[in-house]
Amino acid sequence: MEDLQKRFNLHASDYDRYAVPTLSPLADLLLEQIGMNEAMRVLDLCTGTGLLLCKLADPFPSALMLVGAVLSEGMLQVARTKAKDNPRASFTAMDAELLGFTSRSFSLITLQFGLGYLDPEKSLREIFRLLEPGGLAAIQAYDTSEAATVPPYRRLTKLFAYILNKYSTRTPSPELEQTRKKMSGSSERDRNMTQQTEKSLKELAQGIGFPDVESRSLTAQFQYADIETFLNSMLTGCTSSSIYYRQEIEEMAAEARANMQRSQEVNIKKYCQSSKSLIEESCLIVQLLARKRKN
Ligand SMILES: C[S@@+](CC[C@H](N)C(=O)[O-])C[C@H]1O[C@@H](n2cnc3c(N)ncnc32)[C@H](O)[C@@H]1O
Repeated sequence: MEDLQKRFNLHASDYDRYAVPTLSPLADLLLEQIGMNEAMRVLDLCTGTGLLLCKLADPFPSALMLVGAVLSEGMLQVARTKAKDNPRASFTAMDAELLGFTSRSFSLITLQFGLGYLDPEKSLREIFRLLEPGGLAAIQAYDTSEAATVPPYRRLTKLFAYILNKYSTRTPSPELEQTRKKMSGSSERDRNMTQQTEKSLKELAQGIGFPDVESRSLTAQFQYADIETFLNSMLTGCTSSSIYYRQEIEEMAAEARANMQRSQEVNIKKYCQSSKSLIEESCLIVQLLARKRKN
């Protein structure tokens, strides 16, 4: 847990540049599903740099009560700076599985791309406890089903990994060797992340007691402004894949590293020719909307 948050701290300042542009349209999609009103009390778990809360604060500058909970201090600081003009938005360092709020305190609880780092059952139970009657949980997560790992999904990521492997060292350190073993056979799925599928999340939410659950799998189009942004986003993520990529690159000889970089640029450009200037790939995500019974 500590290591993971250190990784998030390390990339807090790059997060808005490399991760937020791909996640922002998905945040819009999630917010479209939520009937917001000015009296809502909102908790955003694993808030990161406050992407969702800042979007919510915009149309309701002083009406909503907005709380973001995150474990990484680095990301917390970025979020606080972004929301400094909104007195109703606050950010707190809290573990999403063990939240220190009173039961039934919130009308909406959001969780975007954080569930994979948590125990889904523990965190959904906490969400259920904290929602008022009739309250809504709105969650997005990467789909970890087999379908999400085969074409057309994640084509660019696969190409990136393939090229990186071609230039990887033949004399790895024991640490790198260990990581390679851990990653081998993992397809594109992140081994440290918990499993999330349309079916598993629906069953989990129903089992916890949400009577009204809608779970669906959606195709998201991730767009990167240019190759540099795409390459940086591969390396600044906090998944076990991006940690592994960084390890491989650190151990590459300088010449191999430069050749790898060139090869990535040439091949990705070739691959993306049909899609004009943007670099894009599709990815499967799961969206869960679960409402608590009105008393
Ligand atoms: C991929 S980021 C997503 C951030 C944000 N929701 C977004 O969509 O941009 C995952 C976030 O989860 C946070 N996180 C991971 N484990 C956590 C935990 N146990 N409790 C609270 N936050 C956690 C990390 O600090 C990080 O900010």
